[in-house]
Amino acid sequence: MVMYFYIISNMGYRMSIMSITKWPNNAAMMVDVMKLGFIYGNVLDATFGLGKFWSRGEPENLITNDKYVGADYSYDFTNFPEDWENKFDCVVFDPPYKLNGSSVIKQDIRYGVHREASVKERLSLIIDGALECLRVVKLSGYLAVKVQNQVASGRTHFQTDIVTQVLGGCSYSNAEKARKIAEFHLLRAPRPQPHSRQLNPYNNYSTLLIFKKKGKMKLKEWGLL
Ligand SMILES: C[S@@+](CC[C@H](N)C(=O)[O-])C[C@H]1O[C@@H](n2cnc3c(N)ncnc32)[C@H](O)[C@@H]1O
Repeated sequence: MVMYFYIISNMGYRMSIMSITKWPNNAAMMVDVMKLGFIYGNVLDATFGLGKFWSRGEPENLITNDKYVGADYSYDFTNFPEDWENKFDCVVFDPPYKLNGSSVIKQDIRYGVHREASVKERLSLIIDGALECLRVVKLSGYLAVKVQNQVASGRTHFQTDIVTQVLGGCSYSNAEKARKIAEFHLLRAPRPQPHSRQLNPYNNYSTLLIFKKKGKMKLKEWGLL
């Protein structure tokens, strides 16, 4: 009897979706995100790339976009058509978030960071893209943004904070466009580091932020009533 309860309770524990997990890849994480209902209905993948996010399961109504790789649309994610405003139930935005890129590293081409750009330019692109992606999310729909806190030029750039501040914080306020409602941290195996003295902790995780766009009729939910 004791054994039976032990097995059942452990099974329940293993099936729970945690916000920090060593998922084998992004696709495995996205399966869990989908299970929680954040990715539903008409889904726009604004940065489809090689479509790796969906290798373990694709949303039923997926519309793909990528400026540089074959997709349904090739719009710049900072400039979608005017009439896409409030169009999608959910938008997934996985921008080129690596701050140090090189034109000769194969992985950087896959991440879209092989073009020369300053840290400031890379961060601005993420911000402009996140705001434009939010514009095309339906009221009360979801926006999923993939970023990574990381060290560049000797200091940590907290992309999670930057994007959250731009789109809306965790508190209720009239000025917010959206509210962060969940975070998923994908733990990565730490890579070997140079032998010089380490000044900052190594950010061995990337993060998927989930925002809910403010809805017209949800004044109470937003604490404005
Ligand atoms: C991190 S990768 C996305 C990877 C993708 N989630 C996957 O599963 O394969 C970023 C993508 O953004 C695209 N990209 C970069 N700048 C863009 C822009 N201004 N507008 C639209 N797409 C852009 C790149 O071509 C690249 O495929």
